[in-house]
Amino acid sequence: MAGHSEPLRPVKSTRKRRTQGDKDRAFSQYIYLREVGLISAVSLIAGTMIGSGIFMSPEWVLYHMGSPAGALIIWTACGLLVMFGALSYAELGTIIKESGGDYIYILRNFGSLPAFLFAYTSIIVVRPASMAGVSLSFAEYAVAPFYQGCSTPQVVVKCTAASCILLLTIINCLNVRLATAIMNIFTVAKLLVLLVIVIGGVVLLINGHTQSFQDAFQNTTAGIGPVGAAFYQGLWSYDGWNNLNFVTEELRKPEVNLPKAMMIAIPLVTCLYLLVNMSYFAALTPAELLSSGAVAISWGNKVLGSWVWVISLSVALSSFGSANGTFFSGGRVCYIASREGHMPDILSMAHVRCLTPSPALIFTSAIALIMIIPGNFITFFFFFGSFTAWLFYGTTIAGLLYLKIKKPELPRPYKVPIIIPIIVLIASVYLVLAPVIDQPQMKFLYVILFILSGIIVYFPLVHYKRHPQFLQRVTLHLQLLLEVAPTAKNTN
Ligand code: ARG
Repeated sequence: MAGHSEPLRPVKSTRKRRTQGDKDRAFSQYIYLREVGLISAVSLIAGTMIGSGIFMSPEWVLYHMGSPAGALIIWTACGLLVMFGALSYAELGTIIKESGGDYIYILRNFGSLPAFLFAYTSIIVVRPASMAGVSLSFAEYAVAPFYQGCSTPQVVVKCTAASCILLLTIINCLNVRLATAIMNIFTVAKLLVLLVIVIGGVVLLINGHTQSFQDAFQNTTAGIGPVGAAFYQGLWSYDGWNNLNFVTEELRKPEVNLPKAMMIAIPLVTCLYLLVNMSYFAALTPAELLSSGAVAISWGNKVLGSWVWVISLSVALSSFGSANGTFFSGGRVCYIASREGHMPDILSMAHVRCLTPSPALIFTSAIALIMIIPGNFITFFFFFGSFTAWLFYGTTIAGLLYLKIKKPELPRPYKVPIIIPIIVLIASVYLVLAPVIDQPQMKFLYVILFILSGIIVYFPLVHYKRHPQFLQRVTLHLQLLLEVAPTAKNTN
């Protein structure tokens, strides 16, 4: 196949697929185009990582660490941890060339049940919760300028967040190229905004605004619990670093571009985050930062004056771009899990003309929409998401260590020194255990019970394949309605 980039188009339209012969032909397969080049790959990573976190969580990192220097150390450590994690994922991505990120790595290394539990938790809670969270941040900032001086009605925020999700669903279902173009444009925009904040900080520092950096270590906390909590806050801003591994099959020359994109995007984001934090400390005292509510806005009020709306708008746009990246890769988890028989068949199909995994995308967005409805539940989902994410990152990394030790002969275009995944594994164990040891609470038990509840679903529906009779007919009807057909892997 020329440059393995030609899609197979065996059936023109699923509308005709009515007779038995046509039904057989429904199993003709489609494959994905490799539409994602290096630039889109970098922007998929950086554009998802930079969402609303860097505009809000510095306050919380400072709160847990107690001092500016402590906070800056956490931001640096998070960047390093994420870089180490990404390098390890880059090796995994060049050994296992299928899309699906953590899911496919857990499947290939540890087998069906652990992979199912990952998919189940990720599809039902973690991904939609990220989506809902980032869309809600978008909505908060997008409508804030219309409600100056009074609090924004929750219903308006939620409806705006829902519209964001619906718009992203339409864009992502229509065209992969459109979705990546949006990602690129928004990434450039948010890099510019961060640069504005950095330049503002440099000007302030040159003019002698260095109060926050005097006695910078005073009041630093060092307990397991607060440091763990500070890490979680910082790591949320870095989350999305492994996004590219979810779309390996759509990436051009993945063995080269996967490690390269990570090595460009993650140091870039880390440096920007550190400089942005310094700029916040230059403009605001630690006390002002702690009472700010939304640190970027307080920064804007001080430095930009009446132009502060630029920051509100930027946070909104940045969140929108991040939601797009989250959705782009999140939909793929559902799609790949279904392709491996872990979710209903319909979710592994692609639209016959748009060649996008529209059923998986629609399903993911439906769950995210439901998550927007409950009031305070979203904080619980957030907690759930971060805790579970690190549980599974650790599992995936353990898989890499297994491959490195047991199967050193596998061809690896990119190799990472073994100490790096070991550090990431130790860090994930710390991140999972620190909050449990520091403040043992029932919610940890609920999370574990939820993950384990997947076993009850797994055995009848996946292992013994006891599918309800009507499912096949429902699949066929949905296939006709959505104009979708099965797809094949693209790993050559
Ligand atoms: N890091 C982003 C932020 O600061 C959140 C990204 C969530 N998406 C994801 N795929 N984990 O808002």
